[in-house]
Amino acid sequence: MALLGPLALGMLPGMTSIPDLMLADGHAIPQLGYGTYLVPPEKTAEAVRSALETGYRHIDTAEMYDNERGVGEGLRASGLARDEVYITSKLSNAWHLPDDARRAFDATLAELGSDHLDLFIIHWPLPTRYGGDFVSTWKVLEEFQRQSRTRSIGVSNFQIAHLERLARETGTVPAVNQIEVHPYFSNDEVRAYGQEHGIVTQAWSPLARGKVLSEPIVMGIAERLQRTPSQIVLRWHVQRGDVVFPKTMSATRMQENLDIFDFELEADDLEAINGLDQGEAGRIGPHPDTFDWIPG
Ligand SMILES: NC(=O)c1ccc[n+]([C@@H]2O[C@H](COP(=O)([O-])OP(=O)(O)OC[C@H]3O[C@@H](n4cnc5c(N)ncnc54)[C@H](OP(=O)(O)O)[C@@H]3O)[C@@H](O)[C@H]2O)c1
Repeated sequence: MALLGPLALGMLPGMTSIPDLMLADGHAIPQLGYGTYLVPPEKTAEAVRSALETGYRHIDTAEMYDNERGVGEGLRASGLARDEVYITSKLSNAWHLPDDARRAFDATLAELGSDHLDLFIIHWPLPTRYGGDFVSTWKVLEEFQRQSRTRSIGVSNFQIAHLERLARETGTVPAVNQIEVHPYFSNDEVRAYGQEHGIVTQAWSPLARGKVLSEPIVMGIAERLQRTPSQIVLRWHVQRGDVVFPKTMSATRMQENLDIFDFELEADDLEAINGLDQGEAGRIGPHPDTFDWIPG
């Protein structure tokens, strides 16, 4: 092992590997990935190549990020095989009608240059659009899964009422629900519903877009444990059992954010971070019950 360089191994210097979580459909997902929201399209291939070289094996993208093509290019530039990397993409708010969703999924695969995804998810429920019908959209995702063009299917920004409706009206449970979660907005009710129903929570904006990194409680724990604030916050997420994919353009921060599997937070520190929750006041993104934006 020691003779292999960092490019061959990734993950140095911690030398610990990223754990997999098991989804209810039997597929495994790496608990830490690389997020690509606001990674500019022209910089995506290099950012993704760099993340893969650092040791990431899970990339989160979306049609609405306009960078799926760069994700595919970055994967090919890395020299890794398609099946060595877990790739998620998301259905745009513009394409909830079934035929639109079918065309959009074809386009996503073409942009990525892949014949399948690991996970495809509905980006937003849009309960005030499409006559409030996200159920027919979900049934199209079930179709993609039956065709083996995506291993898993899931949702994003679904509230408990939306998940209950899917459970009532369809035969399948989403493998994941990707929702806003960070210390200022711990979103525990939606997470608890997921835990009870076999839905893995993916925590988006895990660092609250950087805002929580100057929080004195986080900085204090980081100083005491000789870690960085980002490592403390990501470790808090991982110990809560969620999947995370922090976004950064910096190779140094990519390494820093990956190097969280060789230490543990004690119960007191977890509790102190739990205490930062501000409920709804801590939410930084749009509210899923009212968000209705459709790309023009
Ligand atoms: N499903 C959804 O609706 C949804 C919504 C939002 C996000 N997401 C997904 O979740 C991913 C992560 O969320 P996010 O990008 O909104 O926010 P985030 O990961 O919480 O924060 C990203 C910000 O933190 C900074 N940062 C990252 N690592 C750092 C470190 N070690 N030290 C200091 N600053 C650091 C980054 O700056 P630099 O780039 O300058 O390093 C960037 O400004 C997205 O990329 C996307 O894949 C999904």
